Amino acid sequence: MLRGRGFMSQKLPENIIPVGVVDWDRRLFDELIPLPEGTSYNSYLIEGSKKTVLIDTVDPSKVDEFLGNLRETGLKHIDYVVANHAEQDHSGSLPALIEEYPDIKVVASQKCKGILSDLLHLRDDDFKVVQDADTLSLGDRTLEFIEAPWVHWPETILTYVREEGVLFSCDLFGSHLAQDGLYVEDECRSADAAKRYYAEIMMPFRGLIKKHMQRLKDYEIKVIATSHGPIYDKPEFILNLYENWVSDDVEQHVLIPYVSMHGSIRESVEYFMERLAEEKVKATPFNLTVTDIGRLAEALVDASTVVFATPTVLFGPHPKVAYAAYLANILNPKTKYVSIINSYGWGGQCVEILGEFTKKLDAELIDPVEFKGKPDKRDFMKIDKLVENIISKHKTGE
Ligand code: FEO
Repeated sequence: MLRGRGFMSQKLPENIIPVGVVDWDRRLFDELIPLPEGTSYNSYLIEGSKKTVLIDTVDPSKVDEFLGNLRETGLKHIDYVVANHAEQDHSGSLPALIEEYPDIKVVASQKCKGILSDLLHLRDDDFKVVQDADTLSLGDRTLEFIEAPWVHWPETILTYVREEGVLFSCDLFGSHLAQDGLYVEDECRSADAAKRYYAEIMMPFRGLIKKHMQRLKDYEIKVIATSHGPIYDKPEFILNLYENWVSDDVEQHVLIPYVSMHGSIRESVEYFMERLAEEKVKATPFNLTVTDIGRLAEALVDASTVVFATPTVLFGPHPKVAYAAYLANILNPKTKYVSIINSYGWGGQCVEILGEFTKKLDAELIDPVEFKGKPDKRDFMKIDKLVENIISKHKTGE
């Protein structure tokens, strides 16, 4: 069995035992998000002097391995399972867990209880509902529950073990990264995975996460144990990264998601890139026919400017560009400026349609560049003007 996650060999403080599962092979989440490095579904068993509690479960695809891990602990009885979050990658094994441990109670927020009842058809009797700042004594340990709605569902709580300063944060601060060890092993790799995760899952809720992080300053946190990816035994590592990502600061960086069907857009993007390089403006192209969309999402976390470049297809943008614009729109990054480069054959509404798709971005539209067919000298001059406008906006930060 590909156990991973340092099962039973690496411990958190004082009898907190990791019983989750590493999913080395998963390559897609929500049938949407690429997982180039797999993921893990972390679950933790806390043995108090009087009560035993499990924190979260695992994706139902890994339920057998999860129950096997629990059996290996030798425990015949578990009093509670905390459902920090109702999404099935953490809750989906609850029915099987309840079958194995019939007396176990599911500790959840009222909202989480409602969602779990809808998703998993759990019974009222299965639950113990908790509110913000409620505590649960395990004898020598005290769990405190912290309501943290919208990270990234409305029902989420965080669980804090007062005596050890361990924060079980579920999705918040997580990363889709499969590795054998329990703790962060390679900070660069972990930072990259956590940024990609933040972009795809948390970024739309940046404002609320800022508030939650402010509140967490009242807690002495020694370890952050997420439900995906490596655990942070140096919490400031991930907290500092998040401080930066949720801040209003942007990097002067131009992202260019594009598709070229017959070379005209490619030629214009190459010219645009060259001109930006001459002006020492950082720029990254994303050829949407081959790009990992998660890399684009990650770059959106702190880039100031996005320029979509598309040929006209059936009167509108190429569908891959429309998809990238729609995705950027719902991820709600702090992008300040947007523009469009469009090559058309006989007409179309690319600019209008992409404008609609990016309405939620709250970014200023810099005059788009439109040209017919293959770009000529006059069209390259329009791109020069776009570069000039971008530099001017970057300078003034207007
Ligand atoms: Fe990892 Fe929102 O579930």
